[in-house]
Amino acid sequence: MYNSGMRGKFIVLEGGEGSGKSVQMGRLREMLPKGTVFTRDPGGVETGEDIRRMVLSKEARGIDTATELLLFMAARTQLIAELIAPALENGKMVICDRYILSTIAYQVYGRQKREYLPLVKSVFAAVNRGCVPDVTIFLDVSPEVGLARAHARLEAPNRFDEEAVAFHERVREGYKKHLSEYGKPFIIDADRPIEEVWHNIEEAVQSMF
Ligand code: TYD
Repeated sequence: MYNSGMRGKFIVLEGGEGSGKSVQMGRLREMLPKGTVFTRDPGGVETGEDIRRMVLSKEARGIDTATELLLFMAARTQLIAELIAPALENGKMVICDRYILSTIAYQVYGRQKREYLPLVKSVFAAVNRGCVPDVTIFLDVSPEVGLARAHARLEAPNRFDEEAVAFHERVREGYKKHLSEYGKPFIIDADRPIEEVWHNIEEAVQSMF
């Protein structure tokens, strides 16, 4: 739908708890040219950040699984409309911390609601304005390693960090099953040290130029 010669590249970084995603996002910020747009899902724009606070808050514990899913989809819809679509259209490169695959992994697989998959796909198709990732990089961490890292952090855990290992196993399964549906897939073993993971991320990003 966009002027294909001018459209910017769209890279998504995905990964479970404690995969080192935040550290690697920081490195990408240093590596990529000025003018690259960095954002996060849920969030990135005011309404998206409002929804983020709501859906990740302790008060939202135990909300209906469909409500949870639709809040993530709503946050993403606004992020696309306000930031990602205009940026790509203007030829900017966009790097997004999480995206549609997170909803498939967490709300469909983690929450064991396979019946929601067609809903997720059809809502996304209806609202994405052509903003499908060119590349999705999945930092694949085993739940044991990831949760141990997450628990060692100083920040308070979010609602999802608190889920059992079995939940995170299902999340991982969901990621692996659907990774190839959203742009060129890269799966990186994130149990390894940060430096080695970074090396693979650099290769993935460079493969686009
Ligand atoms: P965040 O603190 O950003 O976690 P991380 O540093 O691991 O990215 O919180 C985002 C949380 O929201 C994370 O636990 C995954 C969850 N999430 C979903 O469950 N569904 C979604 O669609 C998205 C985008 C995130």
